[in-house]
Amino acid sequence: MRSCGHVQSTIPSLLQSLFSASFTQVAGFDVQADISRSKVAEYQCNSALRLAKQMGIKPFEIAQKVVAQIKDSDLISKLEVAGPGFINITINPKYLSASVNKQLQSPTLGIDGGKQLRIIIDFSSPNTAKEMHVGHLRSTIIGDSLARTFEFLGHDVVRLNHIGDWGTAFGMLIAHIKSQEDFSLQKIEQSNLQELMRLYKESKKRFDEDPFFKKQSQMEVVALQGGDETSRKIWESICTISRNAYQEIYEMLGVHIQERGESFYNPYLSSVVQELEQKGLVTVSDGAKCIFVEGFENRDGEKMPLIVQKSDGGFNYDTTDMAAIFHRIRDEKADWLVYVTDMGQALHFDMIFKAAEKAKVLDLEKTRVDHVPFGLVLGSDGKKFKTRSGDTEKLVDLLNEAVERAEAILQTRNPDWPEAERKKIAHILGLGAVKYADLSCHRGGDYTFSYDRMLRFEGNTAAFIMYSYVRTQSIKRKIGTKYKLDELKVTSLVEPNERALALQLAQFPEAIEAAAQELLPNRLTEYLYSLSEQFNLFFRDCRVEGDPNESSRLALVEATGRVLKQGLSLLGIDVPERM
Ligand code: ARG
Repeated sequence: MRSCGHVQSTIPSLLQSLFSASFTQVAGFDVQADISRSKVAEYQCNSALRLAKQMGIKPFEIAQKVVAQIKDSDLISKLEVAGPGFINITINPKYLSASVNKQLQSPTLGIDGGKQLRIIIDFSSPNTAKEMHVGHLRSTIIGDSLARTFEFLGHDVVRLNHIGDWGTAFGMLIAHIKSQEDFSLQKIEQSNLQELMRLYKESKKRFDEDPFFKKQSQMEVVALQGGDETSRKIWESICTISRNAYQEIYEMLGVHIQERGESFYNPYLSSVVQELEQKGLVTVSDGAKCIFVEGFENRDGEKMPLIVQKSDGGFNYDTTDMAAIFHRIRDEKADWLVYVTDMGQALHFDMIFKAAEKAKVLDLEKTRVDHVPFGLVLGSDGKKFKTRSGDTEKLVDLLNEAVERAEAILQTRNPDWPEAERKKIAHILGLGAVKYADLSCHRGGDYTFSYDRMLRFEGNTAAFIMYSYVRTQSIKRKIGTKYKLDELKVTSLVEPNERALALQLAQFPEAIEAAAQELLPNRLTEYLYSLSEQFNLFFRDCRVEGDPNESSRLALVEATGRVLKQGLSLLGIDVPERM
């Protein structure tokens, strides 16, 4: 992960050295976790309170002794003891202006250095011939944002769509399609997703009720795997129809992702099972080949297996994910594997990771693996959100409705705008609102879908951040022509809300790294929200145009605009130039 001289990482090392210089006992003690931003000071350190007990000295005395050690520092201009022994930290304004100026001069806004990693991120991943539901929409939005963040940090990112396009379900569906009276390849080619979903439901019913059809379906899987031409062609049509449906959603959302569905791993499945057997990891239980990993028991204390081959010889979701993790580590040579799915699959991934470790393919010293779970999307009734008819078209409608509502809001606010512009900005605002509402909630929790809330212009919303951005641009438009924008520099930080804005800007790299490391896009939205609020306070208190520090203040405005725009783009959100 890239890193540089961030405020939040540079302060601890300085304070650490002050502590060690004051007390020899504190060697090995880490102050990092004790330093945070605070309302009363720019930063605050509470290590003295933590150390007091262990050292048998009053926290106030510890803090005093540490504070006395500070000499001229580029980073810290003042240390003060507060309350029972807090150390209040004031950052040197020179440090702040230098860090904003560095941002202004760099295309990556001051983020540099660090080791490039190869990261495979598996997200979106809907299932062929089935509805793409809001859970997949969440995965798509979160996954895309994480991928963008990794890319911005300079990593080599592979975005994979692990589509459910293989398995027993297809045997069922294909057998059913073939048995239709008016079946023809051409007919199926010209079919649509609704039709496929209808056939799918019918086939499922037959499969559950009719043993003969069940047998046929199983034979159909064999035919498909064996390369039977008609079966293959039907399968391809099913995939194409489904692909076109979700492609429409990706296009609307501006999401790029490479399709590498479950079928891709088909040729590897049997050798993966063989390898697991050779390594002595497989136990046959009720005819199924299972891997038992320690620590996975059900409520009755029985060990839970990862089934890699069913008793009928077929492979399943687990087998495919074993093959996928092997492939991603060995062939793709990934340094970091990320899987974005709903929380319901946490156990599945835990077991896959443990099994891959047992097989000695995954070495956690070399490869980082993360399942990135998220909660449900809820409707206003507090129940699991459902699009009206629950099919794919409705998921597009859900996005379209956000755009339409955004357009209505813009129409009221700016009735005189030309239609083309209104439509363009409505698109940015509507889709931005949907994405931002999702990403700004901690993904671990459930999130309630509400058009009204997501389209508000106040609070932690896309519109508020966009509005702040637009404000930076209008200031620039007014006076920017006087200056060469790429030569602007912050030269003076006097007003409290001017300093505070510079400090907020200097924290951008930290926010991005937190989002990437913790896989939490809401770290970034929280940052952008604070930055926007801080910018508005600056705007209230600090005149830009005509001020003696006009150019320095304009530099802050310019940096704010660039950071907001870049930050939103890491969330997959565009910015309007006016609003
Ligand atoms: N298709 C699955 C679903 O809809 C998600 C796949 C996630 N990725 C994976 N490698 N298992 O639930």
